[in-house]
Amino acid sequence: MYRLHFGVESRGATSFEDGDTMKLENGSLATPLESDSVATVRAGRADFPILSTLINGNPLAYLDNAATTHKPQSVINRIQKFYAAENSNIHRGVHTLTAQATDIYEEARSALAQFVNGFSVDEIIFNRGCTEGINCVADAFASPAELWQHPSGLISPLSEGDVILVSEMEHHSNLVPWQIAAAKSGAVVKAIPITDSGDLDLDEYQALLKMNPVRIVAVTHASNVIGTVNPIQLLAELAHQHSAIVVVDGAQAVAHLAIDVQNLGADFYAFSGHKMFGPTGIGVLWGKQTHLEAMPPYQTGGGMVREVTMQKTTFAQVPAKFEAGTPNIAGAIGLAEAARYLAALANGGSGPASIDKMRPQLQSSFAALTLVEDQLLAHALQALTPVKGLKVLGRPHHQLPVISFVLDGVHPHDLGTILDSEGVAVRVGHHCCMPLMRRLGVPATTRASLAFYNTDAEIERLIDAINKARSFFGEP
Ligand SMILES: Cc1ncc(COP(=O)(O)O)c(C=O)c1O
Repeated sequence: MYRLHFGVESRGATSFEDGDTMKLENGSLATPLESDSVATVRAGRADFPILSTLINGNPLAYLDNAATTHKPQSVINRIQKFYAAENSNIHRGVHTLTAQATDIYEEARSALAQFVNGFSVDEIIFNRGCTEGINCVADAFASPAELWQHPSGLISPLSEGDVILVSEMEHHSNLVPWQIAAAKSGAVVKAIPITDSGDLDLDEYQALLKMNPVRIVAVTHASNVIGTVNPIQLLAELAHQHSAIVVVDGAQAVAHLAIDVQNLGADFYAFSGHKMFGPTGIGVLWGKQTHLEAMPPYQTGGGMVREVTMQKTTFAQVPAKFEAGTPNIAGAIGLAEAARYLAALANGGSGPASIDKMRPQLQSSFAALTLVEDQLLAHALQALTPVKGLKVLGRPHHQLPVISFVLDGVHPHDLGTILDSEGVAVRVGHHCCMPLMRRLGVPATTRASLAFYNTDAEIERLIDAINKARSFFGEP
C-alpha cells in the first residue's frame, strides 16, 4: 500500500491464495503465512536489551531509528567474542590468531556481498560508514586523471562544466562532498527538485539529464526526513541512457529494504552499519568492480600497496586498494552478524547455515519486516493526523516508517524535550538536510523514525506525549 517495488525485491513471503486471510492486531488482513512471519519479526524486539531501559522513569519508546538503530544481543555477543577470543590484526602475519582473524574478516565481506547481492565479494569496501563511502567516490571523481588507474568511458574524472545532479532531499553527506568535488574540478552541482508530496520530480529529472554533460547522479535511496523511497532502478536506467554514473546513499534504506545492487542498477551504493542494527564506525561502499579498479585510492598507507619504492607506489587490487591502514575488524565482524541477524529474523531466529544461504532468508525476512513496518507507519500516520495543529510534512508515494512533522506553537526542540521526559525518543532539528528544510518551508521538524521492533503502544505514547506538550504550551 505504501511501497512500490523499483529495485526492491518482491516480497516472497507475502504471496497468498485468494480468500485465505485472517485479521492482524491492527485490524488489517493477512494470510496465515504472513501472520506467522509478522509475529516472528515482532518477537525480535526481545533481542534488543536496550529497549527495556527506563528513561526518566518511563519505559523507553525509541523512535529515533533513522539516527541510529539499536543492536541485538547476537551482535553485541559477536563483538565481545572477537575481542575476548579472536583479536588480532589481519592480512599481515603468519600466527594462528592473525590467520583466523583474517578469515573471519573476509567471511564478513562475503556476508555483506550477500547482503547487497553484489556481483563479487571484491566489490565490498569496508570503511567508516556511508559518509566516508560517498566521500571516497566524490574525491576520486575530483582527482586528476594521472591518479586514476584506468580512466575510460563513464568512469573518468570530472572536468570543467560537468554537471553533478543531486536531489533536494539529500542528507549533507550526499551533497557537501559533491560541492567540494565540484569546487576542485570546475563541475557544477544542480538539484533535482521534489514535488509537494515529497517525491522526486521525475519530469524535472529527465529535463535536467538532457542538459549535457551530466556526469554523476547522486541520490538517496530513502529520505531520512520524510521517508521517501526513491525509484533507484528507474533513476539509474535514465541516468545510464545519458552516460551518467549513479551513486546511491543507502544509509536509510538498509534497515528496511532487501537491497539488491544487481537489480537496482546503480554504480555505487554506500551505507552504514549502525543504521542496520550493526556497530558504529563501520560501513560499506559497494561499487562495480571495473569502476573501483579504475579509481584512484581514497586514502593511502599500509595494506593497500603492491610495490613501494622511494619514488613510486603501485596499488593492491580492490578491495584492499580502498582499505588503507588497520580496518575496523571487530566492526566488520559485528556488521556481518547484523546481516545474519536480519536473515534469521523471520526464519525462526536461526541464521543461515552458510553465507551462501543468506540471500533467500534475507528476502523473506525483509518481506515480513515490510509488513510489520507498513502497519506501524499506517498506524502512526492515522494517529498523528487528528492531533490539532500538527502537520505531517510530505506524503510520498512510497514511504519508509519515517515521519516528520511540525506542531503549531511548539518549537521542535521544546517538543523533543517534553517527549524525552515521557521516555519517548525522537529527533528534532534540520536532520542534516538544510536545503530540504528550505523546500519544506520550515527551519526544523520533529521526526519519528520507526524500526520493526517498535510497537503500536509506543506510537500511542508518542501521541499522548505530543498532546501533553500541546497542553503545556497552552495550545487549545
Ligand atoms: C540519508 C542519510 N545519508 C547519509 C547519512 C550519513 O550516515 P553516517 O553518519 O552513518 O555516515 C545519514 C545519517 O543520518 C542519512 O540519514
